[in-house]
Amino acid sequence: MSKVLKALQTEANDAIQSTFISLTKRLNYTSSPLLDAVEYALLSGGKRMRPLLLSITGTMLSANKQDINVASLAIECIHSYSLVHDDLPAMDNDDLRRGKPTCHIKYDEATAILAGDALQSSAFECLSSMPLSEYAQTKRHELIAILAKASGMRGMCQGQSLDLLATGETISLDDLIKLHQLKTGALIESAVSMATCLSPTANEDTRKLLSVYSKAIGLAFQIQDDILDLTSDTATLGKPQGSDLINGKSTFVTHLGLQGAKDALTVQYEEALHALEQLPYNTEQLKLFTQYMVARTH
Ligand code: IPE
Ligand code: IPE
Ligand code: MG
Ligand code: MG
Ligand code: MG
Repeated sequence: MSKVLKALQTEANDAIQSTFISLTKRLNYTSSPLLDAVEYALLSGGKRMRPLLLSITGTMLSANKQDINVASLAIECIHSYSLVHDDLPAMDNDDLRRGKPTCHIKYDEATAILAGDALQSSAFECLSSMPLSEYAQTKRHELIAILAKASGMRGMCQGQSLDLLATGETISLDDLIKLHQLKTGALIESAVSMATCLSPTANEDTRKLLSVYSKAIGLAFQIQDDILDLTSDTATLGKPQGSDLINGKSTFVTHLGLQGAKDALTVQYEEALHALEQLPYNTEQLKLFTQYMVARTH
């Protein structure tokens, strides 16, 4: 990871921490075992890819920093909740996440279910009640709609349901692409959509190009996740290597083989870069982000 990107990642992580503290104070979240589990899931590690993407895109488009931080916390709350539920025995039944015991192992299953639920509510409490710039005040509705769409029936939850239905089954490549776009791509795309929503300057052409870009990286992200499940190791991943194989998941690797999955990743990577090249902005940081996304080892 380049030094520039590493610094931006640290900044994104710090913003998540401090914005969450502001949210807990503002809304009077009181100490409780549930809050402990929520903080465990949200604040212990993670690459912060979605906040990083939102922040780089938003900064490129002259969005306000505080607005970016609020939207970043909201998306990371949804992402962290999706991981807590994804690891449950009823889903992928994994015991390690971000190098630590999964939420249901550290606490218990019921607490993990509730922590996921509470994180989801917190995402929308964050978007509806944290202070925003005068410009973004008029965008609360849109931000909430973007994140809700990406999380629910038309996004992550639907994708997770298709993932479960495809377990132990043979599905077409088109169906696998759809599954990946929903379970993982949708939330990544929403990081870019929220950034453009917060931008007072982005025009229609920019939105369209960024939409092409985010679709490509959203799919690429899950293809790389599928590849790493086979090629990496548990210590590096911070989650159990081989989980997909054990669970009989439909992945890009099971469909296309390792080389086929790598080729598919390259296609999405090039499509993403092609979209960036057409943008009338300095896209250096987005390029670094895209390179890191496909080259990452965990
Ligand atoms: C893992 O996401 C789950 C997928 C959608 C593939 P990340 O790889 O972003 O997980 P963290 O947040 O860095 O732990
Ligand atoms: C999960 O995909 C995507 C989510 C919506 C959480 P995976 O099940 O492949 O994610 P990991 O590998 O457990 O992080
Ligand atoms: Mg899963
Ligand atoms: Mg999983
Ligand atoms: Mg995976």
